[in-house]
Amino acid sequence: MKRIGLLTSGGDCQGLNPTLRGVGKALYHFYGDDIQLYGFKNGYYGLMHNKYKELTPKDFLGILNIGGTILGTSRQPFKEMRIIGSDGFDKVLAMKTTYKKLGLDCLVVLGGNGSTKSANMLREEGLNVITLPKTIDNDVYGSDMTFGFQSAVDIATNVIDCIHTTADSHGRTFIVELMGHKAGWLTLYAGIGGGADAILIPEIPYSLKKICKFVKKRSEMGKHFTIIAVAEGAMSKEVAGLSKKERKKAIENIVKEHHGLSYKLGKEISEITGQEVRVTVPGHFQRGGAPCPYDRVLATRLGTYAARLIYENKYGYMVVLKNDKITCEPLEEVAGKLKTVPLDCDVIKSARDMGICFGD
Ligand code: F6P
Repeated sequence: MKRIGLLTSGGDCQGLNPTLRGVGKALYHFYGDDIQLYGFKNGYYGLMHNKYKELTPKDFLGILNIGGTILGTSRQPFKEMRIIGSDGFDKVLAMKTTYKKLGLDCLVVLGGNGSTKSANMLREEGLNVITLPKTIDNDVYGSDMTFGFQSAVDIATNVIDCIHTTADSHGRTFIVELMGHKAGWLTLYAGIGGGADAILIPEIPYSLKKICKFVKKRSEMGKHFTIIAVAEGAMSKEVAGLSKKERKKAIENIVKEHHGLSYKLGKEISEITGQEVRVTVPGHFQRGGAPCPYDRVLATRLGTYAARLIYENKYGYMVVLKNDKITCEPLEEVAGKLKTVPLDCDVIKSARDMGICFGD
């Protein structure tokens, strides 16, 4: 009897259930009755605290088009994993104990960068682990695409589409702030997909002067509204030039004083250009709802590949999409690295060729 644990970790996204389904259905297909699956509740928390559900084939029915995660999730920061609690609780030891107690052959982790680091730590501790790249941010190193990303792009693009009509009616400048953490993928893709006039991403620090010049020039040319897609992690050239510690403080101050970068930027643009500016922040809306068809297919491909690795007793890998093929990368080579937008990528080039302003 093969025994496999499954968990979903970190911020949720739209492709988690289809990925679980891909793993589960393929494992039942390969092993028949000779397999037992355990779903840990709320990510690593469930593994630490021995909270799980014995899964059956029924659990994987009807979840292909359902957002969120049937297992629940939570954030258990990697940097706190080895810290012993004031009550003496040893998280790593607890996770290993649960794994051993259940007699698991492998733990399958659906997670982003932090969760992958923790999975790699468990691998170093001797557990068999396989990870699957999850996040709307698309910043998981080693995979060309993460599941959840395309669904979030769909939603964020729709937000920009809707903003177009109201921006046009009122002749306003709009800032649409999108998620993505420290990477600009979501804002770049939704910005292009939604026809934003300017796109600000963390990888390209902006100059306020340049943005204002761009907005003014547009109105001089008779374009009476402007849409600026801003990544939540975007920063000015001044902030980008600070030391890591000073930058953290500066970002905290922006949040404290202005409720976030977009509101600060909106105020500044309005003061300098004299234009009426509005800010829209769709927030967690971008992580909700049903997975788009692209994500359902990607999730199924990644999940079934993970099942195949298990069937072949191959552990210690992240299943990835590379050049439109599903393959796998050793965890020790991908864990702990961030995939940001390369400045020379053709997507940025196309945007620049169309006159989209990046504020640099
Ligand atoms: O990693 C996904 C993500 O949605 C980021 O884009 C965002 O910065 C973060 O999670 C928000 O986290 P939380 O759901 O904990 O507020």
